[in-house]
Amino acid sequence: MKTVVVYDSAHGNTERIAKSMADAIAGGTQAVRASTFVADGLAGLDLLIIGSPTYGGKPTPAMQELLGRLPGPSVKGVKVAAFDTRLGSRFVRVFGFAADKISADLAGKGASVAATPEGFIVKGREGPLKEGELERAAAWARNLVK
Ligand SMILES: Cc1cc2nc3c(=O)[nH]c(=O)nc-3n(C[C@H](O)[C@H](O)[C@H](O)COP(=O)(O)O)c2cc1C
Repeated sequence: MKTVVVYDSAHGNTERIAKSMADAIAGGTQAVRASTFVADGLAGLDLLIIGSPTYGGKPTPAMQELLGRLPGPSVKGVKVAAFDTRLGSRFVRVFGFAADKISADLAGKGASVAATPEGFIVKGREGPLKEGELERAAAWARNLVK
């Protein structure tokens, strides 16, 4: 199964989650930064895992830019799963989370959503990740390719 993990990250936490997922999936799965991902990379892809830090309840500008340049036909029928990193406090729930918005965007373009959007917790705005989140990310990714 050809899989790619596309992510954005300002402080490295989402990047660590993305790399943990890529490492957990056999077959040379790579983690690629959103700003360098080209839409052609979707050709022949079985699974696109895509994740962003949550900024103001949304994906980062770089992730929004990527979603904006992924045309519907390129993702139609592609299996996708979205994740984000987020704070664990109840307060931030009011704004929503990046993963839900990424998933909805791709579903609207005809992608096949393979999992409920998932969030991985950071302990502060610049991290670090909560204990156990890298392992949870690896398990979540492994489950997608079962
Ligand atoms: C400008 C800004 C806005 C943020 N907004 C939210 C938010 O709405 N909800 C949330 O859970 N976390 C929010 N955070 C925390 C980020 O989710 C956190 O910085 C991110 O998970 C870190 O990922 P990174 O290390 O990959 O950049 C915000 C952080 C910044 C800097």
